[in-house]
Amino acid sequence: MNDDIERILFNEEQILDGIDRVAREVTAHYRGSKFTVVSVLKGSCVFASDLIRRIPIPLELAFVSASSYGDGTESGRLELNFFPTDHEIRGRRLLLVDDILDTGKTMASLAEAFRARGAEEVRTCVFLDKPGRRAVAFDADYRVFQVENLFVVGYGLDYAGEYRNLPFVGALRPEVYSRPAAASGETLGA
Ligand code: IMP
Ligand code: MG
Repeated sequence: MNDDIERILFNEEQILDGIDRVAREVTAHYRGSKFTVVSVLKGSCVFASDLIRRIPIPLELAFVSASSYGDGTESGRLELNFFPTDHEIRGRRLLLVDDILDTGKTMASLAEAFRARGAEEVRTCVFLDKPGRRAVAFDADYRVFQVENLFVVGYGLDYAGEYRNLPFVGALRPEVYSRPAAASGETLGA
C-alpha cells in the first residue's frame, strides 16, 4: 500500500496540530449553544473522530452518506443518504464535516438539503480544500489544510475504496490511477 504513495503531504503530527487549531475555532463559535456534528461518510469518519475529541463542549453526532459515481478520480452523479431523522435536523445548528472540498458539489448539495429540511444553521468544516478544482461557488467555514490539484489518499480519503486506513495524507502515484483496471464505473465512495 505504501509503495503506491508518491510523497507524504501531511504526517500524523501535522494533521493533529491542524485539527487542534480548527477545533479551537469551532469551539469558540458554538460555546454556549447546542449543535450537531454531521459526518459525511465514508471519507470524513477518521477526521470527524479526531475533531470531536478536541472540542470540549457538548455536541451531538449524526451521519449522512454521499457517494459519487464516476470514472477513476473524477466525481460524477451524487447519491445522498440521510441517517438523521427530521427531528435531528429541524431547528438544529449543524456542522457538516467532510474529508475534502474538491468541485464543491457534495458540500453545496448537502448544505442546501439540510437547510431545506429545516436546519436552523448549517456550517461546513473540511479536512482538505482544493480551491483550484471548484466547479460551484462554495467555501467552507473551517478548513484544516489547503492542497494543490493532486489526487490524495489516506486519513479517510480513498481511491476506489482503498487507502482510507493510512495514518497520513499522501499523493497517489499517477500510475496507480491510470491503471486500465481502475478505469470504468468505479464508486469513488465519497
Ligand atoms: P466534491 O467534488 O467537492 O463534491 O468532492 C466529492 C468527494 O470526492 C470528496 O468528498 C471525496 O470523497 C472525493 N475526492 C475529491 N478529491 C479527492 C482526492 O484527492 N482524493 C480522494 N477523494 C477525493
Ligand atoms: Mg468524502
